[in-house]
Amino acid sequence: MDDKARLEEFEARINAGEKIEPKDWMPEEYRKNLIRMISQHAHSEIVGMLPEGNWLTRAPSLRRKLVLLAKIQDEAGHGLYLYNAAETLGISREELLDNLHTGKAKYSSIFNYPTHTWADIGAIGWLVDGAAMVNQVSLMRTSYGPYARAMVRICKEEAFHNRQGYELIAELCAGTPEQKQMAQDALNRWWGPSLQMFGPDDKHSVHSEQSLRWKIKAESNESLRQKFINMTVPQAEARGLTIPDPELVFHPETKTYSYGPINWDEFFNVIKGNGFLNKQRLKTRNEAHDRGHWVRQAAEAYAQKHKQ
Ligand code: 3HC
Repeated sequence: MDDKARLEEFEARINAGEKIEPKDWMPEEYRKNLIRMISQHAHSEIVGMLPEGNWLTRAPSLRRKLVLLAKIQDEAGHGLYLYNAAETLGISREELLDNLHTGKAKYSSIFNYPTHTWADIGAIGWLVDGAAMVNQVSLMRTSYGPYARAMVRICKEEAFHNRQGYELIAELCAGTPEQKQMAQDALNRWWGPSLQMFGPDDKHSVHSEQSLRWKIKAESNESLRQKFINMTVPQAEARGLTIPDPELVFHPETKTYSYGPINWDEFFNVIKGNGFLNKQRLKTRNEAHDRGHWVRQAAEAYAQKHKQ
């Protein structure tokens, strides 16, 4: 079979809703695009542990600490499933990690913002994990089998992350006026960056056309952002919080919200590495990796011993 015939067969399988598996023929562009997207996703899970890890010693109760610890450990697991899924496409774990540690690969823009108060930890769970969940539920339908299967457990855990964040925010809203203000301030800080997480609008998204054609992505950035807004605004209103967007309008006929402009200058600046915390996150991540050297060495020695 020549490449043209192979491509036709590949696209026919995608259009029939079949999953593509690691040993199947696939266009080089499909493979490269998936490695890029899955590895960025994996890096986001791992870097996402950093802002929350900073709050473990400051959680206000043992219950809150246990919940936060469980969430952070889940994120490490998500990173591992995703690195494994990327490895099935013929790239090594070392290369993947090297791309993160040298700044060659991206991770989600959202993790370059500071967490000023405990309410920010609630906002991360509610908004950031909420946005991640909306995106990832749609990725359960991605055409690449290992990625789609990794999403099943990840989405269940993201739902828990989202609920615990909302519960934390709800508790602050039911507390003193100062506590409620903390929740509102956190919402004000995290709303815009959470909307940016979905990536540029359809006109400015470089990869969407190809990714939608090959069902790497099941939905466009814009449509997922809209779903997130429709889901989250009523949750804010239920707690007496105000979404920081004066142009937000509900349209009862379509049951959707229209919203004001998103700050894309800020977004592109952050993904170029100039966000508030890009340099610090990379430094901390590199230090953590170096500190884990002895663990990798011990695991390697154990594996060698059991091979003999
Ligand atoms: N942060 C950083 N970079 C982003 C971005 C974001 N929020 N959104 C878009 N970009 C980058 C793209 O990577 C691309 O750059 P590149 O060509 O150098 O890779 C460029 O901006 C143009 O964007 P596109 O729309 O063309 O990119 P995609 O088609 O890849 O769409 C995406 C972006 C929607 C993020 C998509 O990649 C995706 O769905 N990825 C999988 C999900 C994911 O990565 N989630 C991370 C969220 S955090 C998380 O899950 C952790 C959880 O525990 C909270």
